[in-house]
Amino acid sequence: MKLFNSKILGTGSFLPDKIVTNEDIAKRVETNHQWIVERTGIHTRRVGDLSRNESPSGMAKFAAIKALDAANLTPNDIDLILFSATMPDQTMPNTASVFQSKLGITNNCPAIDVNAACSGWIYMLPMANAMIKTGLYKHIMIVGSEMLSSWVNWEDRNTCILFGDGCGVTILGRASENEESQIYSSVLSCDSSKKDHLTLMAGGACKRITHDVLEKNEQWMNMNGQEIYKSAVKTMAAHSERVLKDAGKTMDNVDWFIPHQANLRIIEAVGNRFHFPPEKVIVNVDRYANTSSASIPIAMDEFIREGKIKRGDNLLLAAFGAGLTAGAVFLKY
Ligand code: UT7
Repeated sequence: MKLFNSKILGTGSFLPDKIVTNEDIAKRVETNHQWIVERTGIHTRRVGDLSRNESPSGMAKFAAIKALDAANLTPNDIDLILFSATMPDQTMPNTASVFQSKLGITNNCPAIDVNAACSGWIYMLPMANAMIKTGLYKHIMIVGSEMLSSWVNWEDRNTCILFGDGCGVTILGRASENEESQIYSSVLSCDSSKKDHLTLMAGGACKRITHDVLEKNEQWMNMNGQEIYKSAVKTMAAHSERVLKDAGKTMDNVDWFIPHQANLRIIEAVGNRFHFPPEKVIVNVDRYANTSSASIPIAMDEFIREGKIKRGDNLLLAAFGAGLTAGAVFLKY
C-alpha cells in the first residue's frame, strides 16, 4: 500500500476584536492585575460577540478563509472537517455541520465534532495524519474554535481570569515526493482518574438545565487549578520527551516548542525541565489567555504569518485539558 506523508498546507486564525483586561475583571470580582500576571502571565483576553457571528462556527469561518487562501484551495477542496469546540454552538446539529454550511462547502464532506477539551485540536492531528497517510482523504480541515466566555462564571475569580475566545484552523494534506514535511511522531492520552478536576456537569443528558441547577450555579465550569497545574507540567513534559524519542530526535532538533497556552508558569516549568531556550518557546497567553483547543493552532498561525516559523522547521506541540486529556506531536512543517 502506498503511504503519503502529511504536510500542513495552510493555517489561519481569528480573534474577536473585543479585549477584556485584567482591570476590567477586577471591577467584577476580587482580584487584581498584579495577581493575575504573577500567577498566570495573562494581561488580556478576547471575547466573542454573537451579533458579529463570533460563535465557534462563525469564528471558524473567518479563520478557515485565511487558511484556504494560504493553502491555495477552495472550500469544496476540503474532503473532511474535524472540529473541536469544548463548548459547541449548540447540542444538535454538531458545530462541524454548521461550519460546513457557513463556509459554503457543498460537496457533502463528512463533518465531525471531536471533544477532548483543550487537547481537542492535538487529538485530531494524529487522526488526520493517519487518514492522509493512507490516502483516505486529501485535504482535512482541522479546527479548534472556542467561545468559553459563554461558559465561565464571570463571578468566579478561580476561572474567569483564565479563558479567552478565538479560533485556529489548519489544513492537512499530502506532501509531494520531493518535500520533507511530515508528522514524525505523536502520543495521545487520557488520565480519567483526574476527570473531576475540571468539569461542567450541567447541560448534558445526566443533568439537564433546570431552575434548581441554575439556582445552585451548576451551569458553569468548575476547576481544581492546582491539580490541573501539577498534571499539566508532568504530562506535557513526559509526552514531549516521548515523541522526540519515538522520532529518534532530541531537544536540539526542535526549532519551535508550541505548548498549550494555559498559564505562563506551566509553559516555563515545562521548558525549564528540558533547559529549552525560552526564545524558541512560542507564547501568546499574555494577549489571548487560554483559548482551549484553539490555542496551539492560533499560536502556530501567528508565527507562520510573522515569518518566524519557516518551511522545514521542526515543531514540537504539546497540550493538556479536561479529562485529563493530553497529547504531543512532533512534525516537520
Ligand atoms: O486548559 C486547562 C485549564 N486550566 C488550567 O490550566 C489551570 C491550571 N492552574 C492554574 O493555572 C493555577 O492553579 C491558577 C492560576 C488557577 C491559580 O494559581 P495558584 O498559584 O495555584 O493559586 P491558588 O489556587 O493556590 O490560590 C492562591 C491564593 C488563594 O488564597 P489563599 O487561600 O492563599 O488566601 C486563592 O483564594 O490566591 C487566591 N486567588 C486569587 N486571588 C486573586 C485565587 N484566584 C484569585 C484571583 N485573584 N483571581
